[in-house]
Amino acid sequence: MKKLISVTALTLAALIVFGVTAFAEPGFAYKPEVLEEFAPKWSAISADETVISLTPGAQIGEIRFAWLSGEKDTEVSFRISANEDMTSYKEITVETSDAISDYKSNKVTVTGLEEGKSYYYSYTENGVWSEPAKFTVQPDDEFTVLYVSDAQIGRSGEETLEEILIRDTCGWHYTVDKMLGKYPDAAFAISGGDQFQSPDSITQMRAYLSPEQLRSLPVANTIGNHDDGATLYGDIFNNPNEVRELFADEAGTGYYYTYGDTLFITVNSNNTFLFDTARVLREAVKAHPDTKWRVVTMHHNPYSASLADGEYSEERVLFSALYDCYDIDLVLSGHDHLYSRTEVMYGGKKAEGEGTVYVQSSSASGSNYDPLPEETASFIVSAFDVRVPTYTAFTFTDDAIIGTTYRTDTDEIIDSFEIADNTSNSSANIFTMVISIFRTLFSMI
Ligand SMILES: [Fe+2]
Repeated sequence: MKKLISVTALTLAALIVFGVTAFAEPGFAYKPEVLEEFAPKWSAISADETVISLTPGAQIGEIRFAWLSGEKDTEVSFRISANEDMTSYKEITVETSDAISDYKSNKVTVTGLEEGKSYYYSYTENGVWSEPAKFTVQPDDEFTVLYVSDAQIGRSGEETLEEILIRDTCGWHYTVDKMLGKYPDAAFAISGGDQFQSPDSITQMRAYLSPEQLRSLPVANTIGNHDDGATLYGDIFNNPNEVRELFADEAGTGYYYTYGDTLFITVNSNNTFLFDTARVLREAVKAHPDTKWRVVTMHHNPYSASLADGEYSEERVLFSALYDCYDIDLVLSGHDHLYSRTEVMYGGKKAEGEGTVYVQSSSASGSNYDPLPEETASFIVSAFDVRVPTYTAFTFTDDAIIGTTYRTDTDEIIDSFEIADNTSNSSANIFTMVISIFRTLFSMI
């Protein structure tokens, strides 16, 4: 049997070869004057108690909101209206619960929204109504989703230093500006995890949510390894259809939602107990058995480009056995802070028929990058480890998922591809899952 090498071991080896600074040194896409212009905004960003998150709902027509408030802020309200002046508003019940550091977590789910229509919302913080913000329910017959990962505010150096937080946040704002400048009508965005460096940092969370565009754009966030160990992720993101897991993080669990003819499933890959992931997949597919496309997001990439041929992070590769069973078309990941795309994969190797494409995003802020191995694995079709943030736009059509990946410094396309509907939407049972796991294990021999 070929030697199985874990990601941890590989990272340690790479640290010895490349030195710590190769990992710690950031690479931002913006010119120095962009940082100069951004820096004065920091004091307002870091002190902004009113920051709110928007999350895709269980299906089109539903949007979910979450924000924190202080212990003494006991009367919290939320209104939605079709009018900018908030006339004819509808008051929505706020669900409030205890949250991190004596804050309260306030969550609202708005349903019955019409496709193609714009709405305004306003909410209270310390009794003061926020300025109304607008969002639009984008049509779902053909729609675009923006994919980013590892903004990881605070990663580029000593995370308590203001200068570090300012430049990471500036890099994140720069990417958000670029992708929404190019795709202003995106239906929503997906973040592949590690939204901020410390799982309990209110300041880093505020920085991540600070781009003005995020008042209007729902983002489906994923639990990364840097989100584990505190409740803040679950306090500030109001995810739909959360699935109970036996070994859930404090941060939360996997969840799912649909948009148009696509089922999106978000897996908590910190939890490597496969039964839990199988449960998330089973519940999602049982609720929506017939969608044309099935897309999974998980923070760790089963087919990480950081690994060469013959090297495996076995517990992560086994996740892919479940994706084989459930006919997942596309898996989105992050964690390695470099962009990559695989062949169509099945059974632990390049598929001969149906299979799944794995796309991994680089750092969305530029706060940190990992290198590629000397020889890229044979299952990697496209890889980009230049120290520049990337994002990928996925357009979902009847015939294909069209992916276009950009580097943010030059707006140049670094990868473009189409994923055909090459899966048959089956549902798995315990026997097919066990067979699939053994098939994948044997592919590593
Ligand atoms: Fe990360």
